[in-house]
Amino acid sequence: MCGIIGCVGRGSETLDTLVHGLSKLEYRGYDSAGVAMADERVSLCKKSGKIEDLRDALESATLSGSVGIGHTRWSTHGPPTDANSHPHQDCQGDVAVVHNGIIENYQSLRDELVAAGHTFTSDTDTEVVPHLIEDALAEGAEPEAAFRQAIARLEGSYAIAAVVAGTEAIFAARHDSPLVLGLDDGATYLASDVPAFRDFTDQVVYLADGEFARLDDAGWEVTDSDGVSVEKDVDTIEWDPEETGKSGYDHYMIKEIHEQPRALRQCLRERVDEMAGTVDLDDLGDLSPTGVQFVACGTSYHAALYGAHLFREAGIPAQAFLASEFATSVPPIGDALVIGVTQSGETADTLSALRAAQKRGARTLVVTNTVGSTAARECDHAFYIRAGPEIGVAASKTFSSQLAALNLLTLGMTNSDDAREVINALRELPGDLQRILDESRAEDVAEMYADAGAYFFIGRGLQFPVALEGALKMKEITYKHAEGFAAGELKHGPLALVTSETPVFTVVIGDDEKARKTVGNVKEVEARDAPVVAITDGQTDVHRYADHVLEIPETHERAAAVLANAHLQLLSYHTAAKLGRNIDKPRNLAKSVTVE
Ligand code: G6P
Repeated sequence: MCGIIGCVGRGSETLDTLVHGLSKLEYRGYDSAGVAMADERVSLCKKSGKIEDLRDALESATLSGSVGIGHTRWSTHGPPTDANSHPHQDCQGDVAVVHNGIIENYQSLRDELVAAGHTFTSDTDTEVVPHLIEDALAEGAEPEAAFRQAIARLEGSYAIAAVVAGTEAIFAARHDSPLVLGLDDGATYLASDVPAFRDFTDQVVYLADGEFARLDDAGWEVTDSDGVSVEKDVDTIEWDPEETGKSGYDHYMIKEIHEQPRALRQCLRERVDEMAGTVDLDDLGDLSPTGVQFVACGTSYHAALYGAHLFREAGIPAQAFLASEFATSVPPIGDALVIGVTQSGETADTLSALRAAQKRGARTLVVTNTVGSTAARECDHAFYIRAGPEIGVAASKTFSSQLAALNLLTLGMTNSDDAREVINALRELPGDLQRILDESRAEDVAEMYADAGAYFFIGRGLQFPVALEGALKMKEITYKHAEGFAAGELKHGPLALVTSETPVFTVVIGDDEKARKTVGNVKEVEARDAPVVAITDGQTDVHRYADHVLEIPETHERAAAVLANAHLQLLSYHTAAKLGRNIDKPRNLAKSVTVE
């Protein structure tokens, strides 16, 4: 999704700093990029395409000033063209604005501005903002007041930053879209996400909804909507800039897959008392839910399905909802605890669902990777998965860490008969996972089936979300048709698609009734000549019906889900690599989706 960077106080390095910041935001997904700088005039350069295209265009551009803003755009209003790229300007070219989010009343504002004589040059909702600022300036307002007047007219979601000719300052505002300041000696940064300036500073200030910021040579100030100064906490970012580099791997995704053992250790650290067989949920207190509703999107939704299963196993009614569906038709909540699962903490659909639940009086908790994210701040409670920054658009290590965190959450909130067994399995998990990463034959399997027309993934119980996640990963990064099904559901329709050209990946763990029934489903696809790849701990005879086996060690089925998923991650990664896909930035996808 769109990304914002701004900086003040880096003198002649301003432009390089902005472009560097944009390159650090690439992972969010984008289709155009641009920068604007201000001194006596506003100068800008913007291009559809990659940051490299912007760099090329900058070679023949003349930008000047020691204050600047930049943007990566992920198209919503209008296609990815140079004209639709940000920053956007007013008629005089004295104002430049970058924006993340959606201005819902832009059409009526645009009609009003056009009627008043303004000329628009893009299809975007954003362009109303510089024209509104222009009007306020023309009426004699000072730049900061003009910016506030423009913002006051907007409905919708936004993180906005603007520069104005003759004023060496950046004006910014946020509503439902993240903005964070970075503080360094003599320089101040503004961004939608910390990686944009993490190479320069680890000191940050998160803006809250409704707050404004002014950055200039004198420093920074955050104010509320009435212009009253707000005291802000300065937080220290704990992860290293190196964690956002590739460390010699070809792609962030494979690096992040390999970081999983470490991420899991971080997640478990100081939260599990192995001797007592108990879990310490940081400072969540006693939540004792009588019912749980999960809301989440994408990969996080698969983790939520897994989480709901764990609560049900502990005797607590629990369901997982797609956040986009929950937000538009809130189911009865009663005194359920509503748990959002979102690695970014910024997904608009998930935030809407959590807000809808709060409106109904529900208590909310978020399971997230991002300290200071909107969800972490708005929910009553936050439980951090501690996976470290994830740059690849397709989630990998955050999924494993979500599963581990959800185990901790259920163990800490409920009484499980097998708590000790689960804790032992969790303790073994990083080591078991490391062995899978070292020894998996998933690359060979990927080689064999890279040309397949479609892929199916099946699993039952806790392995059903793993099947869904295996398929999502495959389609996200290979652009191939892939579907995940509950193993028992395959025969109720999807079996019609199964042929000798469609490999079926099946996760079979343990040797209980679920596993045996899944083996039955495997026989059904084998009888239709489909190649079968079994991801299994070898406790059933599924290998007899499988063309290939990807092994995992015997462990608790909860931990087995993480291990099985690792094989599937590698399978998708290597398939995408063989197909030459843009693995870290798959087409049309964004890491953090901040629109509904
Ligand atoms: C986007 C990403 C997915 C991610 C989903 C939810 O669609 O492309 O990889 O799973 O958002 O993100 P969240 O940050 O809420 O976990």
